[in-house]
Amino acid sequence: MTLNFSKCSSVLITGASRGLGLQMVTHLVSSAERPSKIIATARNPAAAQELQQIAESHPGFHIVPLDVVSDVSVDAAVKEVSSIVGAEGLNCLINNAAILIASDLNTVTRDAMMKTFESNTVAPLFVTKAFLPLLKTAAVVGEGGGMGIHRSAVINISSFLGSIQLNWGEGATFKSYAYRVSKSGLNMVTRCLATDLESDGILLTALHPGWVRTDMGGPDAPLSAEESISSVLSVISRLTEKDHGEFLDYSGKKLPW
Ligand SMILES: NC(=O)c1ccc[n+]([C@@H]2O[C@H](COP(=O)([O-])OP(=O)(O)OC[C@H]3O[C@@H](n4cnc5c(N)ncnc54)[C@H](OP(=O)(O)O)[C@@H]3O)[C@@H](O)[C@H]2O)c1
Repeated sequence: MTLNFSKCSSVLITGASRGLGLQMVTHLVSSAERPSKIIATARNPAAAQELQQIAESHPGFHIVPLDVVSDVSVDAAVKEVSSIVGAEGLNCLINNAAILIASDLNTVTRDAMMKTFESNTVAPLFVTKAFLPLLKTAAVVGEGGGMGIHRSAVINISSFLGSIQLNWGEGATFKSYAYRVSKSGLNMVTRCLATDLESDGILLTALHPGWVRTDMGGPDAPLSAEESISSVLSVISRLTEKDHGEFLDYSGKKLPW
């Protein structure tokens, strides 16, 4: 898969301690056409051994503490990232951090619903809001017209499980009220932000990474993290204004809302 981040100076990934976030970081740092500044965020960087190892041998790689459900943590992260990216702003924000709590009709609780909504739906909105000044700067500074990671982009890692249309027949096999509702909500957050930020030149896309073998996806998933993320990053690197406000899968195909 072609991966061209040469016109994207900075990328920030939330929830990079493990799973798909860690795979994005691993893939980006070893790419020839990598962004010069790669910012991996984790709520507990001291416990993220893999990130610490990457930092030892990759210049331009930064680990920033970020718990996406804490305003205090988000504000501190914005300050730190601001000093890393400087006057160029932040080109690409990937809202990847999320949780999945088992919640079929028998097991679902109010607490599971609210916790999942907070992490998977509310947090990406407020993280994006907090980073807006840096994203707007990058949209102005970025060379060339149009939309994309050469200017400013927010990628919300969603799931096909958030598609209301696909939750029928075979697509309804996986039961999770909390997770499915949270990702439908994230899709709506993506559309709302897309309409609000279009005039600033900030691209918004919801992206389904496929069903992947991670702690969340489990051992039976068909895709490895490497297969998913090489494709996801390739799609992100090629996004243009025609993908603004869309819901895509890891191959770039449009998904129904
Ligand atoms: N795997 C799949 O099959 C699949 C399919 C569709 C969509 N997705 C989506 O892809 C994304 C990544 O999933 P994954 O499979 O990599 O999940 P994962 O293996 O469970 O990893 C989740 C990541 O999110 C972080 N996180 C959770 N809550 C956080 C918080 N409050 N603040 C900061 N970080 C937090 C975790 O950090 P800690 O290490 O600190 O817990 C971890 O790094 C998610 O948005 C998920 O919904 C996954």
